[in-house]
Amino acid sequence: MREQRGQHRFAVVANPPSAENIATVYDEAGDDYVAYADGDPYNLFAFEGAHAYADRRLWALLETKLNALRTSGASSVNILDAGCGPGTWLRRLVTRARQIGFSRITARGFDVAQAQIRAARRKAHDLSGLPGVNLTFEVADLTGALPEADASVDMTLCLYSVLSHLPVASLPKVSVEIARVTRGHFITTVRSIGSTPTAFVDSIEKARHFSLDHRLDLCEVELRGGRRLALPFHLFSARELRNCFSDHFDIDDLCGLDIFHNRFIPDHRWNPASLLLDQPLADHLARLEETWSRDSSFMERAAHLLLVGCRRQTAEQERGFVRPDTPPAAHRA
Ligand SMILES: C[S@@+](CC[C@H](N)C(=O)[O-])C[C@H]1O[C@@H](n2cnc3c(N)ncnc32)[C@H](O)[C@@H]1O
Repeated sequence: MREQRGQHRFAVVANPPSAENIATVYDEAGDDYVAYADGDPYNLFAFEGAHAYADRRLWALLETKLNALRTSGASSVNILDAGCGPGTWLRRLVTRARQIGFSRITARGFDVAQAQIRAARRKAHDLSGLPGVNLTFEVADLTGALPEADASVDMTLCLYSVLSHLPVASLPKVSVEIARVTRGHFITTVRSIGSTPTAFVDSIEKARHFSLDHRLDLCEVELRGGRRLALPFHLFSARELRNCFSDHFDIDDLCGLDIFHNRFIPDHRWNPASLLLDQPLADHLARLEETWSRDSSFMERAAHLLLVGCRRQTAEQERGFVRPDTPPAAHRA
């Protein structure tokens, strides 16, 4: 197909892409996805590279929740990571949970992409064998039923665009299922309607073309090597994300993650090497993020929307019929 400037058209996708397409895309990316998304997979808390700011903010939040649970006197913790990819976030949490003295740690990650789950198992091998740690990774689809018991999970995660890949029509059911198993917090990030583009498995500079059809929620990307991806992808407004979860969760926070950083990183194909993102500028950007991340005109221009929900008590719990393993009050901290 001959490309006309600004008018590149992809071949029409015969069938809307499904979870299978998603799995294939992330499977084919293999370990390259880890390098792109997480940097050095064995240096768990380095937080450097393109996504450093959002990752640092997210990690500070997760660590605070974990510490609060431990400080409340809990010695066991149950964490679920839906759409865990290569499992880096779960490995971070399990590592920290051990360091702060949890003696029984149950953590399950699942994803539709088999190669990502294989990578997660491989990388978590050392951790999974430790006494008191039950860390597992499985291939499964978030649009199906979860095997966890009602109100059994302290922290349910769904990080970095997993929900953006799901059909919008499936979100009410997914939200009910997440709420069913969660007794503590639900933490998710999705791409916002004003976010900058992504090629999912690699930096956007590697994309020769991309387009996102908002009517079909279909994103097509052609990478420089010629590889083509067609993926379901939905950009969320802040209100839409809130509405998905507010029936079952008190929304503790809803904010933008990375409004300024990605726009200030120098591009060395264009900017001179002398233009650095040095510490004073990084500090200033962090202050700007803090100031504007909950402002309605800026929030939806962030790369990601972060939602933190605290599971609302069910009527049964409010009437006092509480399970013996009901969470400590720390969940409400
Ligand atoms: C951008 S990656 C994020 C991976 C991981 N949460 C992280 O932060 O590193 C999105 C992940 O969502 C997974 N995914 C997409 N749809 C899914 C579904 N229906 N069920 C489970 N995982 C899904 C993809 O396979 C992919 O690994």
